[in-house]
Amino acid sequence: MNVVELKHPLIEHKLSILRDEKTGTKEFRELISEIAMFLCYEAMSNVKLNKTVINTPIEKMVIGRLNEDKYAFVPILRAGMGMLDGVIRVVPNAKIGHIGMYRDEETFEPINYFFKVPKDIDRKEVFLLDPMLATGGSAIDAIALLKEKGVKKISFLCIIASPEGIEKVLEKYKDVKIYCAHIDRELNKNKYICPGLGDAGDRIFGTK
Ligand code: PRP
Ligand code: URA
Repeated sequence: MNVVELKHPLIEHKLSILRDEKTGTKEFRELISEIAMFLCYEAMSNVKLNKTVINTPIEKMVIGRLNEDKYAFVPILRAGMGMLDGVIRVVPNAKIGHIGMYRDEETFEPINYFFKVPKDIDRKEVFLLDPMLATGGSAIDAIALLKEKGVKKISFLCIIASPEGIEKVLEKYKDVKIYCAHIDRELNKNKYICPGLGDAGDRIFGTK
């Protein structure tokens, strides 16, 4: 119920290029951004609209309009930044926060190094962005930081999720909804997602 996996031939097609080790930085970035847009589309399928009266060139009509200011996108640095482009193309007036996290290479525990969110974040619905949900440690810590600030509604948008990560996040936060493009098989001994796509941050920024 709290996990939505995008099951669509176009998404599988895009993932087939994204996952390919031969895919270069430019195309990798573009695909992360594009898939993020589809995730956002799905994650916002139940948002409430305000009834507005407009005049078309033909006649007056009542139509729903989104109060974009009620939403915030919060990428988890670094890799989450790759998804930001895509989501703000769909909701350009949403506010943006940043959470800096990296996984310790030996313990795999997340380390938080930055936190900056809009000051009225407690009144916004938040979409956390991170391409990879592996052990779930980074997602759990990021959600905890947002909850400390009073955020009530959080959706986690990722490209690839592991079954272990999903279970851990939902065990701790039953009110969080996870949207992913694909649920992969498992984590390996280095806590990388298999088959996965490798290190998302390094592939987005070309750092390795
Ligand atoms: C990656 C990824 C997630 C985290 C997932 O970030 O982008 O934030 O690992 O792993 P977890 O679910 O086991 O916590 P990384 O630590 O590599 O930092 P980066 O984005 O700066 O490359
Ligand atoms: N972080 C990544 O970038 N990739 C993984 O497979 C796991 C964590």
